[in-house]
Amino acid sequence: MTEQTSPDTIYKGLDGVIADYTAISKVNPESNSLLYRGYPVQQLAAQLSFEEVALLLWTGELPSQEQKEEFIALERAHRALDPRVKSAIDLLPLDAHPMDVARTAVSVLGANHPQSGDSSPEVELRKAQELFAAFPAVVAYDQRRRRKQEVVEPREDLDYSQNFLWMTFGEEAPEEVVDAFRVSMVLYAEHSFNASTFTARVVTSTLADLHSGVTAAIGALKGPLHGGANEAVMHTFEEIGIDKAETREEAAARAKAWMEEALAEKRKVMGFGHRVYKSGDSRVPTMKQALDAMVEYYGRGELMGLYDGLETAMAEAKNILPNLDYPAGPTYHLMGFDTEMFTPLFIAARITGWTAHIQEQRADNSLIRPLSAYNGPDERHL
Ligand code: ACO
Repeated sequence: MTEQTSPDTIYKGLDGVIADYTAISKVNPESNSLLYRGYPVQQLAAQLSFEEVALLLWTGELPSQEQKEEFIALERAHRALDPRVKSAIDLLPLDAHPMDVARTAVSVLGANHPQSGDSSPEVELRKAQELFAAFPAVVAYDQRRRRKQEVVEPREDLDYSQNFLWMTFGEEAPEEVVDAFRVSMVLYAEHSFNASTFTARVVTSTLADLHSGVTAAIGALKGPLHGGANEAVMHTFEEIGIDKAETREEAAARAKAWMEEALAEKRKVMGFGHRVYKSGDSRVPTMKQALDAMVEYYGRGELMGLYDGLETAMAEAKNILPNLDYPAGPTYHLMGFDTEMFTPLFIAARITGWTAHIQEQRADNSLIRPLSAYNGPDERHL
């Protein structure tokens, strides 16, 4: 196929383009549903551990007891912060964005992997599982070094979510908090051909290795139009002003006034809108329940005046509804994560989806290389 100067249609942003098949997840905007390997995500979030969901995404089926135990043993054995990753992170300034730290850490893990050149399916699955296990220590270390706190070693008696919170905060998290965290991981795990997953697939399509795909995906996730929105939501709340003693109505009025100004300045309101869902993100109700549980647990009802106020104002003014990042941002805030750490939490979850897509792309690969329509100067000569 040749490149044309006046094609019939340009699919800017690849909007509406079906780029390939996937058997990993189905996003259905009509029914507002999301299936992982055929299972509704709400059911998975209610009933399964994040470790089980990860295995489902990678293998296509729910794990047997034996497969589960084997994976749990592997995951617990690969949790400690690799000293080479620690040394690399220590070279970065304390105020480096945690997404830059995360991207560097994954790159270092890839370069040091003893089978870095081997992309056979068994080795790639193993690399994905090891990365899944190793990544929480990167987030925990970065959060703690910013706060000038000592490293907290992982504990083998805790599950993935319990241990993540343990390494980050140095104390065992209560059941309610662990559960809300687990739910967020399950909901963030996978979402078909979003920008970062597609990036991972593009990189894999050149036959590059798994860590290259994940490193590139982290770059794509960082932007505020994608994963960076969960951090941006919290900045919005901070800009509107949280922790003010006021009624819900007063908070809602301030949120509305802030939104009107933002829209007048043609600013996007972060945590709202979606390329695929136009009548609500299927993951939001489940994440909102987790947020409500955290608001109740921490006794922070005042936050919801702003939350509900902005949501109502956006619906009335633009008919634009929240996406997953809207309830996730304040949930992580209440748990005690620094705002800049929110998107790395998204990475921890999405490593599962990305690496499942890397496997799928490699299994039936075709180089991803679209065409462009040239609109520069006509041929000219020096
Ligand atoms: N705030 C204000 N206006 C918005 C928003 C928003 N959050 N989202 C869409 N719009 C408006 C646009 O300004 C545009 O209006 P116009 O036609 O008058 O110019 C219209 O709705 C269409 O918006 P697009 O950006 O063209 O739609 P697209 O499908 O490309 O955008 C996107 C999807 C990028 C997510 C967009 O809604 C957005 O920027 N949202 C804010 C960032 C965000 O929350 N990202 C998280 C995505 S979900 C995730 O990663 C888990």
